[in-house]
Parts: sequence; C-alpha cells; structure tokens
Amino acid sequence: MPFTIAIDGPAASGKGTVARALAAQFGFHHLDTGLLYRATGAKGGDPAAAARSLTPEDLARDDLRSAEAGEAASRIAAIPEVRTALVQFQRDFARKEPGAVLDGRDIGTVICPDAEVKLFITASDLVRARRRAAELNTDAQIVLEQLRGRDARDSQRADAPMRPADDAVLLDTSEMSVEQAVETATALVQTAINAR
Ligand code: DC
Repeated sequence: MPFTIAIDGPAASGKGTVARALAAQFGFHHLDTGLLYRATGAKGGDPAAAARSLTPEDLARDDLRSAEAGEAASRIAAIPEVRTALVQFQRDFARKEPGAVLDGRDIGTVICPDAEVKLFITASDLVRARRRAAELNTDAQIVLEQLRGRDARDSQRADAPMRPADDAVLLDTSEMSVEQAVETATALVQTAINAR
C-alpha cells in the first residue's frame, strides 16, 4: 500500500519546501498541485476546458512562478468545474508506489482525506510576504497585499476552501528555519511510517 502525505497551507508558508524535502528524504513522488491551477490560469480561454486539456508542456511553462500566475490561479481555482477536472489526476498521483507527497490547499480535506500524514503549514502573513518578496525580488508591502487577497479568496470560496483537515497537524513556521520545519515534519512522517 502506498504511503500518502498531504500538505496544505497558504502561499509562502514553506509547504513546498517541506514537501520537496520529505519526498527526497523518503524516496516518495512529489506533486505541487498549485502548478495545476497556475497552468490552467495561464492557458487562457475557458478555464474548465483548459483544466481538462492540461498537458505536461503546460505544466513546464517557465512563467508559472510569477505573482500574476498565482493570482490567476487563485481566481480560476474557485470554479467548481475546474477543480472537478483536476481531481482524478491528483488522486492517481497520490497512489504512486512507494509513496507520494502532495501539497496544496485541499489535499487533506478533499483530494486525499485518507492520507497517512496530514500537515497544515502556516506562518504569519508578514513573514510569508518577506519570504516571497525575497524570492521574487519585489517589494514586501505589495506582496503582503497580494497574499492577503489570495488567502481570503482561497479560504472563503464555497468549493474546497483552504482549511486544515480535522486530523491535520498544524505547523507554524513563522519562527522556524527551513531546517527546523523540515526536521519537525520528517519526525512526524517517520513516526507514522513506524506505526504502520
Ligand atoms: O500553491 P500555489 O501558490 O502555487 O497555488 C496557486 C493557487 O492555486 C492558490 O492561490 C489557490 C489554487 N490552489 C487550489 O485552489 N488548490 C490547491 N490544491 C492548490 C492551489
């Protein structure tokens, strides 16, 4: 039986970094599900049709990391037909042997409600804005406003809003280094693997 790790949380919380580190550590596959929404938004045209026809080339575009792509992704992610179109791909990925790490907003709640480990990673919005601004080489104040807008939309939409699953472990990385966050997450996963 494959082992599934669900990681959710807001933008720039550190969830991508933790997800990649866990995948490397345990030899699991990793899917950044935000990329599916970013690629759908960037494709243009009817969002539901774009989501249904995503190709590996769409996911490999190098403009998907921008703030604009994140904003467009957040908007089209509120459309139920878009989310429905992306469910099966994510669930199939989650069953890959020997295990998979998926990070996003609704992995523990909707995509993989039976995941062996669920983490909800947060950090204060100021810390997240500073991190993202450093990454994108832009102004932290502008990033802060964008993040707040995106968090509000992602957590208030009717379909699969961002929220911790009832059985998720909350990890606040505001005062943690990357190494500390990764260590904490690794220990949790190791405990769950040992207990299996
Ligand atoms: O994680 P990210 O910043 O790449 O995500 C971009 C947007 O995609 C995010 O603001 C909301 C949407 N998203 C989602 O609705 N569900 C997911 N599982 C992942 C991302």
